[in-house]
Amino acid sequence: MNNHHFDNPDLILSHGHSNNGVSSWQSPSNIALIKYWGKSTGQIPKNPSISMTLSEAHTYTTVKYQPRGSQDEWIKFTFEGAEAPSFAARIEKFLGSLSSIFPFLKELSLAISSENSFPHSSGIASSASSMSALALCLCDIERALFGTLSDDSAFLAKASFISRLGSGSACRSVYPHLALWGKYGPLDESSDYYAVPWQGQEVFNSFHDDVVIVSGEKKSVSSSAGHALMDTNPFAATRYQQAQDNMTSILECMQTGDLMRWGEIVEDEAMTLHALMMCSHPSYILMKPGTLICIDRIRAFRQETGLPLFFTLDAGPNVHILYPDSIADKAQDFIKSEIMPLAENGRIIPDQVGIGAKQMV
Ligand code: PMV
Repeated sequence: MNNHHFDNPDLILSHGHSNNGVSSWQSPSNIALIKYWGKSTGQIPKNPSISMTLSEAHTYTTVKYQPRGSQDEWIKFTFEGAEAPSFAARIEKFLGSLSSIFPFLKELSLAISSENSFPHSSGIASSASSMSALALCLCDIERALFGTLSDDSAFLAKASFISRLGSGSACRSVYPHLALWGKYGPLDESSDYYAVPWQGQEVFNSFHDDVVIVSGEKKSVSSSAGHALMDTNPFAATRYQQAQDNMTSILECMQTGDLMRWGEIVEDEAMTLHALMMCSHPSYILMKPGTLICIDRIRAFRQETGLPLFFTLDAGPNVHILYPDSIADKAQDFIKSEIMPLAENGRIIPDQVGIGAKQMV
């Protein structure tokens, strides 16, 4: 497979096509357990990653399409009811790059509207939910116009492939519960080009992820700049090997249900991600003092109670607190009394592992 695998010059409209319609999808964000950090040209990850699909944090996207007259605008984009020129430019560039995969897009006029269920700069990856929601709509339009992609797993694999081209980690958002992206030797079906669903013990299907907003400021270094800095990071090769090894261990833990060892790996991955940022050239730090205090308190709570409550971090200062549903009461008491005072304006966004994307219209 390569980035041209889904090119299809036959997907052009003929006069017989009914080519008006609407597609709406809701797609969630995801939180990585084994982190994707570092990539090659064409959005190819340097190591495999695995994530939990979230439930409450999602993007809802609607694409209305109709034949495009010579004077018609190609794309009209609104975000949360208002025009959003910077997002619109990114989407237009993205759709322009898909012309060999979906040649029919240029023949249509598209009105795209999108909204997020969660606030901006909250440490929840909005690129993952928004790019996957858009990719699902595009595959759905292909299916409606050409009768292709009738098989659900082929549909989701293509949607994951398209999501990846929009934002790497977005390809993991289309599946329920857990999704693995990137070639991982022992798993034949794994691929650098799209994610595949992965099933662990039942306990992981209802895990909680409460996001502590330590700071809602826009981050100082974008993810794409961060990935690029891995190219000159002196620890890059060791990191990519560590990710492979951590993948083997975490999949084992999710098969056996060993939560304590699982949490150790998840925290190791979060710390490694931020350590890599700190030892990049130039070096940068995305954690804030409040991030470290949260981490200390989480570790102290675990030591005192023996309960399986852990943290992970995305590329930002906000702390994702992970725990199984069976300890939800005790975990939430702890979060309320010891963590909430550290959150900006007391903001904590509760979420849980979810069932993946769903079609709305
Ligand atoms: O998908 P991107 O290019 O925004 O990269 C995201 C990378 C992390 O969120 C830090 C880790 C991950 O695997 O999601």
